[in-house]
Amino acid sequence: MKTLVFFGSARKQGNTKNLLNKFLEQLNGEIKVINAYKSKVEPCIDCRYCWENQGCSIKDNMQSIYPLIDEADNIIFASPIYFSGIPAPLKAIIDRCQTFWSSKVRPGEEKLKKKKSVLLLCGGAPSFNKQFAAADIILKSILKELNTELAGHIYVSNTDQVPVSKNKEVVEKAKELSLKINKCSTKG
Ligand SMILES: Cc1cc2nc3c(=O)[nH]c(=O)nc-3n(C[C@H](O)[C@H](O)[C@H](O)COP(=O)(O)O)c2cc1C
Repeated sequence: MKTLVFFGSARKQGNTKNLLNKFLEQLNGEIKVINAYKSKVEPCIDCRYCWENQGCSIKDNMQSIYPLIDEADNIIFASPIYFSGIPAPLKAIIDRCQTFWSSKVRPGEEKLKKKKSVLLLCGGAPSFNKQFAAADIILKSILKELNTELAGHIYVSNTDQVPVSKNKEVVEKAKELSLKINKCSTKG
């Protein structure tokens, strides 16, 4: 089982990292983490190259990420909430996945293989209505294009007051979700 993680936090030991670590602790198989802040992926320029060609016209680190998406059995997004959405470097990676959307308009193109997905989000503010709504829409829309079925999500509020490392309930949920993914993989 191959798991590809898109990690969107700027902080090395922040809440998102702690949540992700707890999730990954018991996950089986090969795990590859793409740190959005380190990967220096340029934003999409809507040049429409991908309307007729596989891949992308911009030759940067995204080129090595495309095959990882192709091969992955699981796609995980782990991110903080920034102004209701997700941090810009992670959004750049998502927009560069436009080539998967446009595979629909390229003749004779095969779909990506079916995958499972997980969303892990941290918001610093105390819980409020729609705290995660915008990020949820963005991430679910890319997960659909990547042909994934959502296996579960963990959205944590109030991380500025109660860090994930001290939130036993959340840590437990992260472990449970990874065990669920392991089970899915053994079922095939
Ligand atoms: C630019 C910026 C915008 C933010 N906007 C929100 C927000 O809209 N809602 C929210 O709940 N928290 C917001 N936060 C707080 C972060 O989501 C919170 O601190 C989170 O734990 C950061 O993740 P990290 O610990 O992995 O770095 C914002 C933080 C920053 C830096």
